[in-house]
Amino acid sequence: MIRSCQRLRWLLKENKHRQSDKIGVLLEDMSDEPKLSMNEHDEPVSGNAQMPVGVAVVLTLLGYIGCTKVDELNANFAGNVHAPFGSPVEVASLAPSEEQLIIMRGKALYAKNCMACHQSDGGGSGNVNPPLANSPYVLENPERLSAILIKGLGGPIEVLGTTYNGAMPAWENTLSEVQIAEVLTFIRQEWGNSASRITAEEVSKVSAKIQEQGQSQPWTEPELSEAFPSE
Ligand code: HEC
Repeated sequence: MIRSCQRLRWLLKENKHRQSDKIGVLLEDMSDEPKLSMNEHDEPVSGNAQMPVGVAVVLTLLGYIGCTKVDELNANFAGNVHAPFGSPVEVASLAPSEEQLIIMRGKALYAKNCMACHQSDGGGSGNVNPPLANSPYVLENPERLSAILIKGLGGPIEVLGTTYNGAMPAWENTLSEVQIAEVLTFIRQEWGNSASRITAEEVSKVSAKIQEQGQSQPWTEPELSEAFPSE
């Protein structure tokens, strides 16, 4: 019994040797094969390679900085950061509409260019600067209003029962047609005024009309009323 066991073990050993010999020959054959091109790589060899310590340290550090940054920018992922909004649609609904944007821009243009004379309440000042709130020149014919801004205005003019005699310069060289449209839309819809929007195209048309008509100096009231009757 013991003998047959020993024999079996010997046979197995012998067999293993023979097989590994065979594989050795096989590998030799393959390595003898001519390479197809100079650039062909050697056969891959399996083994264990360790990541250099330096690389591991840098990667860990980058990961750490990245996590800290994400935490910082997202307020530690606190649930109430986006509250009370629950979806992108809700957040998008907060964006101002085109009309609101025009009014916002018009308001800024008014503060910068007109407020010094016509005041923040649109009430004008003294008997020099006429009011814009409730003024027929603001609320009526939009073409006439555009014309006032484009070329300016001087000489006596009656607004809401008071006669003013000052001078307003032309705005065509200071403000673009888009800006004139924005500021005019603002003054037509502020201080209780409620008149339609004026577009840049409309301002542009009036500008062309004035050029055709030949007015180069600021309007006087009679010239203005003749070129642009009040509706
Ligand atoms: C330097 C002062 C001054 C500034 C700045 C000024 N205006 Fe005037 N504006 C006047 C005066 C003065 C008159 C009246 C002119 C006259 O007496 O003939 C007038 C007249 C007007 C009128 C017609 C009369 C009325 O009351 O409805 C409008 C409209 C108007 N301005 C709008 C504007 C707008 C819009 C701006 C800004 C882009 C502006 N003005 C900037 C002084 C100014």
